[in-house]
Amino acid sequence: MKVRALAGVALLTTMTLTGSPATAGAPTTAAPAHPTAPQQATGLRAVADRAGLRIGTAVDMNALADDAPYRAAVAREFSTVTAENVMKWESTEPQRGVHDWAAADRLIDFARANRQKVRGHTLVWHNQNPAWVNERDLTPAQLRAVLRQHIIDEVTHFKGRVWHWDVVNEVFNDDGTWRDTIWLRNLGQGYVADAFRWAHQADPQAKLFLNDYNNEGVSAKSDAYYALVKQLKAAGVPVHGYGVQGHLAVQYGVPGDTLTNLRRFERLGLQTAFTEVDVRMPLPADPIKVQAQAQGFTALLQACLLADRCVSYTLWGFTDRYSWVPGVFDGEGSATPLDENLTPKPAYAALRDTLAIAAR
Ligand code: XIL
Repeated sequence: MKVRALAGVALLTTMTLTGSPATAGAPTTAAPAHPTAPQQATGLRAVADRAGLRIGTAVDMNALADDAPYRAAVAREFSTVTAENVMKWESTEPQRGVHDWAAADRLIDFARANRQKVRGHTLVWHNQNPAWVNERDLTPAQLRAVLRQHIIDEVTHFKGRVWHWDVVNEVFNDDGTWRDTIWLRNLGQGYVADAFRWAHQADPQAKLFLNDYNNEGVSAKSDAYYALVKQLKAAGVPVHGYGVQGHLAVQYGVPGDTLTNLRRFERLGLQTAFTEVDVRMPLPADPIKVQAQAQGFTALLQACLLADRCVSYTLWGFTDRYSWVPGVFDGEGSATPLDENLTPKPAYAALRDTLAIAAR
């Protein structure tokens, strides 16, 4: 059992996610947390609380508004939430100087009502920027000024209500070179240090994260992050966390040195977190892909539980009903632990069982 206890959350007495008895309490899916206790199936949140780990999901705000079973599952299954889209710059400042915080505020209110932490995602990225942020229109000096203003505005708006910020997202290529973005081209590599300093200035309490994909194991990409963190730390830049998105695919497997990688960042004084986990597969699904998927989810969860400062494990959506995967990866899907009907797959039971073992 991890030492850090979390605020009490009512234990669930049923594992069904749909209210349908067909999926409830299947004896093969739940290992009892204590051999002598009656088998009690619980949601991920309750068991993660007992394991001392925050478990989260990305939230689709339209689904949260329109889909009551989805909404109930977000509250019941998770102790942190991340806005899947509504905290991105294109959503918060669609026109220069005109902010729209409404959708993000709804998520913050939901999280408060359900005693959940919020992971803020994301301040600096090359995607989903507003159309008016266009290097043809703005000089480097102007771009630096609008980026600074954006970070100060957004972090100030959510001050005290965001637990972690993904300050910069996806700054490196897989080969460890700097990604060619509007920010690199116009501001140089120093934009990363600037972004962290501005965010920290606006909310000194928030934990500030780097975030990327394909950075689970030790690789050219994670080496680049390691060197960057050392550099930032040496310069006194407030950087607190290494975020591993964790977008896996069954055909590529899971890097075996994920824990080793987390540990080296923790030795630099950082927290670590899995921030966007999903495990997609080429469709159609079959039993071996489904098994590999469960193993992918648990391999990352295990690494988090074995690490010393891995503070949260977030799914990039928990149901295939709203997953981003089919829209982006041709011919792939079924990437989350619950299917389109919110019926649990083996991955769901595997996550819960792994958390239950850690909670003993
Ligand atoms: C994705 C969302 O899930 C989609 O709805 C949106 O259309 C595009 O962005 N890495 C990230 C996330 O950091 O912000 C991305 O989210 C998925 C990949």
